[in-house]
Amino acid sequence: MQDQVQSFFDPVTGTVSYLVHAGPGSACAIVDPVLDFDARSGRTATGSAQRIVDSVRGQRLRVEWILETHAHADHLSAAAWLRGPLGGKIAVGRQITEVQGVFKRLFHLEPEFATDGHQFDHLFADGETFAIGELQAKVIAMPGHTPACVAYQVGDAVFVGDTLFMPDVGTARCDFPGGSAAQLYRSIRRLLSLPPSTRLFVCHDYPPDGREPQWETTVGEQRAHNIHVHDGITEDAFVAMRQARDATLGMPNLILPSVQVNIRAGQMPPPEANGVSYLKIPLNAL
Ligand SMILES: [Fe+2]
Repeated sequence: MQDQVQSFFDPVTGTVSYLVHAGPGSACAIVDPVLDFDARSGRTATGSAQRIVDSVRGQRLRVEWILETHAHADHLSAAAWLRGPLGGKIAVGRQITEVQGVFKRLFHLEPEFATDGHQFDHLFADGETFAIGELQAKVIAMPGHTPACVAYQVGDAVFVGDTLFMPDVGTARCDFPGGSAAQLYRSIRRLLSLPPSTRLFVCHDYPPDGREPQWETTVGEQRAHNIHVHDGITEDAFVAMRQARDATLGMPNLILPSVQVNIRAGQMPPPEANGVSYLKIPLNAL
């Protein structure tokens, strides 16, 4: 069964969401959907996610999975919102429990917030296989950017999350809690040991001036041209580069709102007595 991959680029956050399926009328998985968020007003919107709903309905697809490659720090997840109209199981790597623990402490979340991953419908182990209708899929743990990062392999397509970016952009930062440049290097070498023609779909593109956004590349292109991890770059050299570069980076615009929602699988925090949900800003803690 040949898989088909459709992409949805959000220019506001530079995020690419995907729909993978076997053609009209088949089962499908949604990867890394975006919930629009205006930080100035605190307002969420569903324009980006609605494009996915329309595409699913237009092709009579049946959503079996809503897959997160990690707890994103740059956009809110639309997984919980999409599960309402479309169904499907929300899944993430099982190390999400570690990430939940870190952020439960940082945000001093309510005692009832359990760091056992139960907010998700399924937690994946490294190497676990699963079906998307007739398509076979496999989970590849990719710790480094965060401890819970995973890639999803469907046929010759791999959704790599924030491990690799396009070859001229390089790799993801490793300075978030639980991140590790050495781990990211090993995760990436594992990914790049797949056949050179393997198609890689990245979760973000931040194109250099003059280039249009792109999100599809191959193992062969990355091995030849990735500015941070092309063949020949040693782990020591990568770690030194990554740590020096991370020390210069500011926090992503939406890190504080994003992680509070994304560790809950895209649900808002429980409403307070007046019926309103609030997000917190920890002062001088990050
Ligand atoms: Fe990320």
